[in-house]
Amino acid sequence: MLSRSLTDDAELRALEPWRAPEFAAHVAAAQEHLLRWLPWGASAAEVDGAEKLLQRYADAQARGEGRILGIWVGDKLVGGVLFRVWDQAMGNCELGVWLAPEAVGRGLITRASTEMIDWAFRVRGMHRVEWRCATGNTRSSAVARRLGMTKEGVLREAAPLHGVRHDIEVWAVLASEWPRSGLGIRPEA
Ligand SMILES: CC(C)(COP(=O)(O)OP(=O)(O)OC[C@H]1O[C@@H](n2cnc3c(N)ncnc32)[C@H](O)[C@@H]1OP(=O)(O)O)[C@@H](O)C(=O)NCCC(=O)NCCS
Repeated sequence: MLSRSLTDDAELRALEPWRAPEFAAHVAAAQEHLLRWLPWGASAAEVDGAEKLLQRYADAQARGEGRILGIWVGDKLVGGVLFRVWDQAMGNCELGVWLAPEAVGRGLITRASTEMIDWAFRVRGMHRVEWRCATGNTRSSAVARRLGMTKEGVLREAAPLHGVRHDIEVWAVLASEWPRSGLGIRPEA
């Protein structure tokens, strides 16, 4: 897949190491919004850190163990989706997401996540896709819910971020539950 249309003006494309300068500039511009919830929000704002992160995902993808894709609106990188964890033998993976603040509220992440989950189940034969978010990250948990995931529990104080240990919600959807009739994608957008 080189690109996949999400809406009239938004596309999902491979986010490869050669795009590190563009990725770093995007993360730097959105940093205030991203830093609150993303552990890599600081390091990826520098080209060197961005390149390391993208290379790590490129290496994982070459091993068949994960991937990262960006979302572009026109020519502007505005966010992305990634498989942070991929365990083919166990059939489990974990999806992560982010958006620049100006791209929030359009359903882009719900759409992009739907493509990723569909690929994990239908193409790669995975059994379970997980979603983890801090308890206070209500926009993130709203996406998990919209995707038809079930909240399975809370890992208490599991993630230190900026000196605070956050409770982490674990959400998941199983291949046998996909796609759910309640999938919250509005077809008009
Ligand atoms: C988490 C994050 C990606 C969610 O972004 P989002 O824009 O709320 O999610 P979506 O792109 O799926 O958009 C959903 C919103 O668009 C609206 N929408 C508009 N058209 C839509 C459509 N066709 N389909 C679905 N939703 C649509 C929804 O109603 C919803 O808005 P609302 O919550 O105000 O009701 C974003 O808040 C973010 O980047 N946060 C910082 C980084 C982060 O927390 N990452 C996750 C770590 S766990």
